Amino acid sequence: MTRLVVEDVHTYYGTSHILFGVSIEISPGESVCLLGRNGVGKTTTLKTIIGLARAKTGSVRYGDADLVRLRPDQIARLGIGYVPDERIIFPDLTVRENLEIGAKPGLDETRKPWSVEGIFELFPKLEILENNLGGYLSGGEQQMLTIGRTLMGNPDLLLLDEPVEGLAPVVVDELMRQVKLLKESGLSILFAEQNIRFATEISDRAYVLEGGRIRYHGTMQELHDRSDVKEKYLML
Ligand SMILES: Nc1ncnc2c1ncn2[C@@H]1O[C@H](COP(=O)(O)OP(=O)(O)OP(=O)(O)O)[C@@H](O)[C@H]1O
Ligand SMILES: [Mg+2]
Repeated sequence: MTRLVVEDVHTYYGTSHILFGVSIEISPGESVCLLGRNGVGKTTTLKTIIGLARAKTGSVRYGDADLVRLRPDQIARLGIGYVPDERIIFPDLTVRENLEIGAKPGLDETRKPWSVEGIFELFPKLEILENNLGGYLSGGEQQMLTIGRTLMGNPDLLLLDEPVEGLAPVVVDELMRQVKLLKESGLSILFAEQNIRFATEISDRAYVLEGGRIRYHGTMQELHDRSDVKEKYLML
């Protein structure tokens, strides 16, 4: 099992300095959230981990691997799954085909590999829609399919970027329950989110970002007692 250590990372888009010394650690089996309002750098932090944005200084290590030197596909092969904020599905493939295309063996041989049937057990709606084309799914169903396809790659660490944003409340509740099951299965999760309620349901610890800097980190329980931090940096 592998530990992710992000240390003093500075990330730029061109000349725009976006992350200012971000440090985050995730141990195997931990579920951690990255909280903060719009534009504070949550997505950029996830992209820096998965290699879609580059840390100019600082380090990102996953076990012995130095992720700053690797391409996104190489990082994915180390067992890090990334579910971006835009839902990425193949509109002309069926739900089943969308899942099959994500299938890839994992590195952790002690973990049971995901099958399409396993994904259907987690997301029963997808089984009903098995032969439908991806392009006709609702937003919530597309999100389940995107997560399902990522799981088919058997990651040990899952990066989730605001997975419930823009979804109807009843779908949000369903998806949060499903992500919670993933956490309980022992998968490590780093979850970018604006809403502390959703974060509380699935996270053990939180990092609060503002202006590209970590302003607070602690357990969810500690954060709940910090009304100063919540009022200053979060949506309540
Ligand atoms: N490709 C880009 N080029 C230049 N600036 C960017 C780019 N992507 C994001 N930014 C800027 O970087 C900052 C951080 O953006 P980021 O998307 O990481 O924030 P976020 O916390 O994920 O926000 P949101 O909650 O809206 O998703 C913002 O000021 C944004 O405008
Ligand atoms: Mg974002």
